[in-house]
Amino acid sequence: MSENCKIAKIKAERDKAFIDIEVLTKDQQVVGKAEIMKGKTDKSFLWVGVLEVHPLCRRQGVGTEMMEAIADLAKDEKVDLVYVHPAQLAESGWDSYPVSEKALTAFYNKLGFKPCEAPKDVVTVTNEGLLKRGLCLTIKK
Ligand SMILES: CC(C)(COP(=O)(O)OP(=O)(O)OC[C@H]1O[C@@H](n2cnc3c(N)ncnc32)[C@H](O)[C@@H]1OP(=O)(O)O)[C@@H](O)C(=O)NCCC(=O)NCCS
Repeated sequence: MSENCKIAKIKAERDKAFIDIEVLTKDQQVVGKAEIMKGKTDKSFLWVGVLEVHPLCRRQGVGTEMMEAIADLAKDEKVDLVYVHPAQLAESGWDSYPVSEKALTAFYNKLGFKPCEAPKDVVTVTNEGLLKRGLCLTIKK
């Protein structure tokens, strides 16, 4: 991992409905961020709506560390699963460097995510095609 991308801290701010994550270097530069929604319908879940690593810090394991931290939070929150869509949905400052759905699927598969039915009430997604391509990480209790 290049010195400028080295992770010093993964900060999680939690409230009842959301978890915001920032990955910081020792110089307090943000090299990764995630926005997660908590849900409980037919299943309890964490839905990762935004997950991004700074373009200059990609392919160095930052995203993997962030997802491992999210899996730990999921255990802590005692949810059934972590849910993602392998597509960039939300706007952000870094999104002029998109990553293909194939690459995102490879990233999530390596972390143990498998195709699954979306938990009911992943409401803000209107794209039916995308809903059919969701991936889940089952949390062992
Ligand atoms: C998806 C993302 C967060 C991954 O972060 P990252 O720090 O680059 O990921 P890692 O370095 O931990 O990658 C782990 C593995 O995932 C796979 N992978 C990651 N990015 C990949 C790519 N662009 N192409 C192919 N495989 C990829 C590889 O197997 C990689 O291991 P390797 O580098 O040893 O081959 C990052 O690419 C990103 O910010 N993308 C833009 C935003 C986005 O689309 N977010 C997803 C929203 S669902």
